[in-house]
Amino acid sequence: MLVLAGVVVAIVYGWLHRDEDWINPEQGIGYWLGILGGSMMLLLLGYPLRKRAKPASKSVGTVGFWFRFHMLLGLLGPLAILYHSRFSWGALNSAMALGAMIVVASSGLIGRFFYSRVHRGYSGRKLELRALKQEMDEMLAKMEAAGISHEAVLAGIQPFEDRAVKAGGAFWSSAGAVLTLGVETRFAKRRMLADLPRGADRRLLTLRALLDDYFEAVRRAAEFAFYDRLLRLWHLLHLPLFILLVAAAVLHIVAVHMY
Ligand code: HEM
Repeated sequence: MLVLAGVVVAIVYGWLHRDEDWINPEQGIGYWLGILGGSMMLLLLGYPLRKRAKPASKSVGTVGFWFRFHMLLGLLGPLAILYHSRFSWGALNSAMALGAMIVVASSGLIGRFFYSRVHRGYSGRKLELRALKQEMDEMLAKMEAAGISHEAVLAGIQPFEDRAVKAGGAFWSSAGAVLTLGVETRFAKRRMLADLPRGADRRLLTLRALLDDYFEAVRRAAEFAFYDRLLRLWHLLHLPLFILLVAAAVLHIVAVHMY
């Protein structure tokens, strides 16, 4: 988020100063920014390669490292290219390369959102509904230990978990559950927090944190199947877009050196 915020600030700054001719894409810093941005976007391919390869040596770096590096270069590379282009479309071949880059980088941000709903961390470890259910059950047991009655858990809290787990199988039922449970769990949490006695002793603090974590886990479980499907659809779109970007970039590089 910090990197993204920095990149947004740099884009706004560059956009506001785009009419000052301090960068020339054909020579000096402007030209080198083009090479730098292009190289960064080539280097970020290390992630899909690393994800698919089983390296003989550990020194190649983990999948998690390459994924973080991918996202960093996926933001800094386009930033360098935006400065290289002086935030203008230029000739047709330049506009095609710039447009394709903006589409692919934006698509990457959308994919990152889907990815985070389906995985634990960045190492490629996927969430599993079974493990999520087990975590929720453990939280319910802890709530009872902290003083919520068994009846209250059965009647008012556990049904959310059952609905999230049941909705998981199919696309439309999970889409519906993302919406309804997204809203209802937030209302239910507020109501239950308001019903708890006031005070800040340890038991109450634990209970509040448990309720928070529990409803978060319910939403994650409901979201899991839906975003898993969306991530797969996204993959189908992202790779052809990327190939289009490579073609447009090659055309652009050839064109500017020929004319
Ligand atoms: C112009 C910049 C970018 C290019 C050229 C690019 C290219 C790619 C490529 C080729 C893949 C592999 C697709 C596959 O394995 O099937 C990929 C995956 C991915 N990229 Fe990017 N990307 C860029 C920017 C970004 C950004 C800014 C982010 C997020 C901050 C991002 C997040 C992702 C994610 C989440 C995946 C899928 C990971 C997975 O399912 O394993 N990308 N990208």
